Amino acid sequence: MYDRRQFLKAGAALPLLAMFPHRALAAAETDQGITLRAQPGTQQMMPSDLASPTPIWGFDGTVPGPVLRTMAGERLSAVVENGLDQPTSVHWHGIRIDNAMDGVPGLTQEAIAPGGRFVYDFEAPDPGTYWYHSHDRSWEQNARGLHGALIVEEAEPWEGADRDLVLLVDDWRLAEDGSIDDSFGQMMDWSHGGRLGNFVTVNGRSKPRIEVRPNERIRVRLINAANARIMELGLPGTRTWRLALDGMPVPLVEENEPVWLAPAQRTDLLVDILDDETPKTLVLHTNGGPFEIAEFAVTGEPVRASFPEAIGLPRSGPSLPDDLSDAVRAELLMEGGAMGGMAGAMHKGRMMDTRSLVGKGYVWAFNGVADDRGKPLARFAKGQTAVITIRNETGWPHAMHVHGHHFRVLTRNGEPTGDVAMRDTTLTVPDETIEIAFVADNPGKWLLHCHMLEHSASGMMTWFEVA
Ligand code: C2O
Ligand code: CU
Repeated sequence: MYDRRQFLKAGAALPLLAMFPHRALAAAETDQGITLRAQPGTQQMMPSDLASPTPIWGFDGTVPGPVLRTMAGERLSAVVENGLDQPTSVHWHGIRIDNAMDGVPGLTQEAIAPGGRFVYDFEAPDPGTYWYHSHDRSWEQNARGLHGALIVEEAEPWEGADRDLVLLVDDWRLAEDGSIDDSFGQMMDWSHGGRLGNFVTVNGRSKPRIEVRPNERIRVRLINAANARIMELGLPGTRTWRLALDGMPVPLVEENEPVWLAPAQRTDLLVDILDDETPKTLVLHTNGGPFEIAEFAVTGEPVRASFPEAIGLPRSGPSLPDDLSDAVRAELLMEGGAMGGMAGAMHKGRMMDTRSLVGKGYVWAFNGVADDRGKPLARFAKGQTAVITIRNETGWPHAMHVHGHHFRVLTRNGEPTGDVAMRDTTLTVPDETIEIAFVADNPGKWLLHCHMLEHSASGMMTWFEVA
């Protein structure tokens, strides 16, 4: 007999998951925890009558990598082996983690060399939906498939849904034969909206068919794992409530409009499979769309005659003091990109730091400097509240991500947002100024960057220190 704790650890290897071969774990369960191996593999992504399997790079050779599950307050231990021919690392996105486990080469660890390994061992303090992904050459490694879902279960089981369903959405740039278009590093992508794909998968599959039952209530965990695509996702034919954003519970609201997810953002939804004739699908609204990217096949007997009242998640995670008058402030000016000055090297008549720009393909900058690892944006004393003003003076939206902390967006263009959500990633649109606030209570060196991975690689990267 399993106790709950063993069940969660071993859960990923349960025979049940054999139904989803792409998620069946090759990860060896050891006494120390799990092993994840970054390695090449192949996967049938395009329909098999159209193209052969796609050569990918994946954890355990699959895309996405195995769904990892742990419990809030428990330690997760993962040995990451590098079976690639280039260095790699793993970042546990959204976890308020020990800094040494954050997975940022050059800031928190040395990259894992080909053939090498690194033991990640950390406590996940807050329940919720997270993900893990490569953080070295992530613009290439993430685009080739090195990412997966990381689910932190509530320590007190939450019983508001019949089932938990992880849907990791990704877009790929594929050639006609099904291989990954290897035009990485194209200046056109880097200085514009990033590498956008031409093919969308859900859990690594093209339009998967997911069996559901009438009147079933499902907790759907949506993850945008794309390099750069902002996704507008709808669930027609269902009734939907919002449970959480970026892992953190939000007050329960019925929300039947499509949700927006910037790259790296997540949302947990409570989804009622209505017992009626309307087709139930996951739909991506985007140029040339909408596209049905997953199908819910309603089969079997109704789970119940009618739905009980929906219940939200218990509050968890970090919070913010009401009084921000003592907050320490920092400013971040985002510049560059196409139409934001010639190739980003000039902005409003001012040269950016050409020392770091020259020869490195930098086209964006924060406070006039491209990816300066030498000097932090700010230093905060542990426990201090930080307010960072972010001014997007580029012609592009950006998905701003803070490592190791969740923040609240206080204002947009000077207007209070009234938003209570604590997020780890937020979108800023062109000519927008936002203020974000968080309690800097996690010691260490933390990145703050755009999660459009081509943008961070070409300059939109800085860090702050909490000590
Ligand atoms: Cu998910 Cu620094 O990133
Ligand atoms: Cu960006």
